[in-house]
Amino acid sequence: LNNGLASTPQMGWNSWNFFACDINEAVIKETADALVTTGLADLGYVFVNIDDCWSAQKRNSKGQLVPDPKTFPSGIKALADYVHEKGLKLGIYSDAGAFTCEVRPGSIYHENDDAELFASWGVDYLKYDNCYNLGIKPKERYPPMRDALNATGRTIFYSLCEWGVDDPALWAGKIGNSWRTTEDINDSWASMTTIADLNDKWAAYAGPGGWNDPDMLEVGNGGMTYQEYQAHFSIWALMKAPLLVGCDVRNMTAETFEILSNKEVIAVNQDPLGVQGRKVYVSGTDDCLQVWAGPLTGHRLAVVLWNRCSKAATITAAWGALGLESSISVSVRDLWKHQDIVGDAVASFSALVDAHGCEMYIFTPKTVSVSDI
Ligand code: DGJ
Repeated sequence: LNNGLASTPQMGWNSWNFFACDINEAVIKETADALVTTGLADLGYVFVNIDDCWSAQKRNSKGQLVPDPKTFPSGIKALADYVHEKGLKLGIYSDAGAFTCEVRPGSIYHENDDAELFASWGVDYLKYDNCYNLGIKPKERYPPMRDALNATGRTIFYSLCEWGVDDPALWAGKIGNSWRTTEDINDSWASMTTIADLNDKWAAYAGPGGWNDPDMLEVGNGGMTYQEYQAHFSIWALMKAPLLVGCDVRNMTAETFEILSNKEVIAVNQDPLGVQGRKVYVSGTDDCLQVWAGPLTGHRLAVVLWNRCSKAATITAAWGALGLESSISVSVRDLWKHQDIVGDAVASFSALVDAHGCEMYIFTPKTVSVSDI
């Protein structure tokens, strides 16, 4: 969507994956505090996004949405002011239907009023869900809110959450800043790998202004191993997915922080070229040894060797699979060990990769100098 936003994928936090409906204004404020004190905010995680369950069961007598008086007694404007003071941005949630998935009022046929209300509160981001959709196609239900947000005059990031219904990559580029390509993620290896593969299919349609959204991060929620979370984060970064943290950042472990705060991996996600990396080569039983790669600025390549088999194995990225001439020599930077690999690689690069883990690199091809010819 051409609204000046999303030149790179959005980064921040969202309440749903960890808290679901168990949210309140203290949780949101403490999360904003934690994003700042941990340093995650400085690394780019600036959106503090409230998901479903912030609103009361009914609109007020004027037909307006009302924050739940028990859990958000100070209102959303107060929260927006609070997070803005910290240099962060506030996201809110509604639904392109009669109700949200947790049966709070939805915004269909109230688009203008709700968008104006969100803008008056100082909201910076809207996630717009797909429940109780009256059987109307997403293609029809999502544009009215785009137009309503635009009419407020406030710049508001527009995140479509239509669960991949009707292949949004094909039509959502003019409607939203990101669109979900799949159903909900859950905190498991099976879900994460399935979603990565589904999202990969739409790589060609992502770019500055509009991104494929394979759903929010589960890193730190406990259902996967360290290696699996590292792979989850690496592949999401490479796929130019939104990096929306989904754990309790007030209480995260050192390992969770290490994954989420990897500057070099974040830089791949935020590279201004904005090309979604994709699965470029597979081998092994059920294609479980995988090479994923994509171009970066400066003629560099981001490369992930992902071992989805159950035993450690060597994975080889051959230049042919990466679109490089086999004679080209490449310097290799390891983004998880934070070190340059000694000696250039020519024709291919191999590494031993842990079961369910990955290695992630930046390859910088050497330009051939005149004396080499
Ligand atoms: C379905 C969405 O896909 C989830 O991300 C979350 O927003 C829930 N609805 C909330 O009800």
